[in-house]
Amino acid sequence: MIHSLRFFGSEALIADKETSMKKQTLRDVDVAHKRVLVREDLNVPLDAEGAITDDRRIEAAVPTLRYLVDHGAKVIVVAHLGRPKGQLNPKYSLKPVATRLSEALGVPVTLAPDSVGPEVTNLAESLKDGEVLLLENIRFQPGEEKNDPELSKQLASLAELYVNDAFGAAHRAHSSTEGVARLLPAVAGFLMEKEIDYLSGALEAPKRPFVAILGGAKVGDKIGVVQNLLDKVDTLLIGGGMAYTFLKAQGYEIGKSLLDADNLATARETLELAKSKGVSLELPSDIMAASGFSNDAERKVVPATAIPAEWQGLDIGPETIRRFRDIILGAKTVVWNGPMGVFEMPNFATGTEAVAQALADSEALSIVGGGDSAAAIEQLGFADKVTHISTGGGASLEFLEGKTLPGVAALLDK
Ligand code: 3PG
Repeated sequence: MIHSLRFFGSEALIADKETSMKKQTLRDVDVAHKRVLVREDLNVPLDAEGAITDDRRIEAAVPTLRYLVDHGAKVIVVAHLGRPKGQLNPKYSLKPVATRLSEALGVPVTLAPDSVGPEVTNLAESLKDGEVLLLENIRFQPGEEKNDPELSKQLASLAELYVNDAFGAAHRAHSSTEGVARLLPAVAGFLMEKEIDYLSGALEAPKRPFVAILGGAKVGDKIGVVQNLLDKVDTLLIGGGMAYTFLKAQGYEIGKSLLDADNLATARETLELAKSKGVSLELPSDIMAASGFSNDAERKVVPATAIPAEWQGLDIGPETIRRFRDIILGAKTVVWNGPMGVFEMPNFATGTEAVAQALADSEALSIVGGGDSAAAIEQLGFADKVTHISTGGGASLEFLEGKTLPGVAALLDK
């Protein structure tokens, strides 16, 4: 049985191999009348007035929470917001999230004044079937990020079953993501299942050609992903700030473009590794260069092999865009993580937009890692033209690096 196919609609694009989640999920347990502690990633961006500017993570949590409500569970949601560093800070209260979550679920959501303690225990114990309690920001607890066993125990005491649906926080071994999972029967929620099915499906049994597109500023942040993907993909397209370190590693002049000098040798080794593995590692052949780091700077297209001394590359050039687009359109599986240029500056957003457009036009199974590339796809209105947009930033990167996510490892095996 291949769970992941459920999400692919009628056209199954992943090869017929066992790629589904090896962990128990909500479907494997009985939740009726039980107090269920659910970890969600509700870490949404807020503006200066504290209003939510992107509610995708809240929407993504709905299927699991609705299932629990509909199946008569007493639902206790645990989540974090921002990085309050173990201290109570009203700026990071989950209050706006509680309101938005209640709208999205269509049922009242009570926000507890804290995440553990006698008052929270009372609230949890007085829940009726189908009611939802959201615990206040778990990162107000100093023990959370330390994976403090005492905090894990307090969380576990609130419920009879634990569901981890927070893919975006699964790379953190914290009390609410890992510690508590060791103390209660622990299963994956539907979002967690879907994220892992898609990502592991692409990595373990992709329909080929399998193309990965990586961008972003620093080679150091992505090198683990690049190296892991060299064992999986047919073609690796590299754009964004990290491309200049690879160009420099090939001996080209990169002017004032971003250079990750600490990783120059690693970039050189990676180019060799790609060659030895027969992976086609594609770098930009032309660059949109700028006279300074600003949207209004003077611009010109230059060969990637000869960026003038006083100029800096801020986007991929038109020839590269055409080449990358053709490669993407020829793929059957595509994974994209990281922008192709400084896309927050409109004059240097063309490469990123073109990649997003190519993904939208492609018939491949397409997965977009969280963060900037997901934001670009959303802003351009292509969200429903790609197969899956991950809710995880750091978590999806660690997954692509081949690392074990502690929040997943702690769940019950099938
Ligand atoms: C995220 O936003 O990537 C997750 O919610 C994890 O947050 P963190 O990086 O603060 O642990």
